[in-house]
Amino acid sequence: MSKVKGLIFDLDGVIVFTDKFHYQAWKKMADGMGIYFDEEINNRLRGVSRMDSLEIILERYEGEPLSQEKKDALAAEKNETYRELLKTMTPADVSQEVRDTLAKLREMGIKISLGSSSKNAKFILERVDLLDAFDAISDGTNITKSKPDPEVFLKGAEFLGLTPADCGVVEDAYAGIDAAKDGGMIGIAIGDACSYDRADYRLNTFSDLIQVVKEINQ
Ligand code: BG6
Ligand code: MG
Repeated sequence: MSKVKGLIFDLDGVIVFTDKFHYQAWKKMADGMGIYFDEEINNRLRGVSRMDSLEIILERYEGEPLSQEKKDALAAEKNETYRELLKTMTPADVSQEVRDTLAKLREMGIKISLGSSSKNAKFILERVDLLDAFDAISDGTNITKSKPDPEVFLKGAEFLGLTPADCGVVEDAYAGIDAAKDGGMIGIAIGDACSYDRADYRLNTFSDLIQVVKEINQ
């Protein structure tokens, strides 16, 4: 395994926890349409783009076929609700552990990129005052395929000026670990992804990352 020169971070479930806001916003849209939606279905939306998420929710829809315009309107409605909820976020929504670890990694010479499927990623990082911790941002605005496709991470590596083999990806979702591995990167799991056998490393807590990088680079 080559040395790690860059780390690419998923956002939701790794840096911040916006799952509940996605859930509330989709729930409001689904209720308005009379579509059954619960937290289990919400879990299937992790790392999945907005429009693909809508298609998953519409699996339970039993009405007349929906035009593309209607689908776009539903996704826009959800996004409006979601962004209102995001406005309640403050710097206190990012732990000191995450801030300190990102700063320490930079001191160690590691370049840092975001790798999120969200088109709201920059907005979120601004809300929590973390934009400056990143050397590059790869997000939903620069990709055509969402995870498990590796595109968002490959772009992250490119934005950092690194090859995929130089990069580790920190992810909480199986689809994200698949994307990292299929893209030729080191898969570093946190949270739910720790139970996935494709992960190369597992973090009990975010700051374990320092030790993992030291181990890879020794
Ligand atoms: C991902 C979330 O980070 O972003 C998904 O895990 C979400 O649930 C996706 O659908 C797209 O987000 P947005 O903010 O562009 O609607
Ligand atoms: Mg995630």
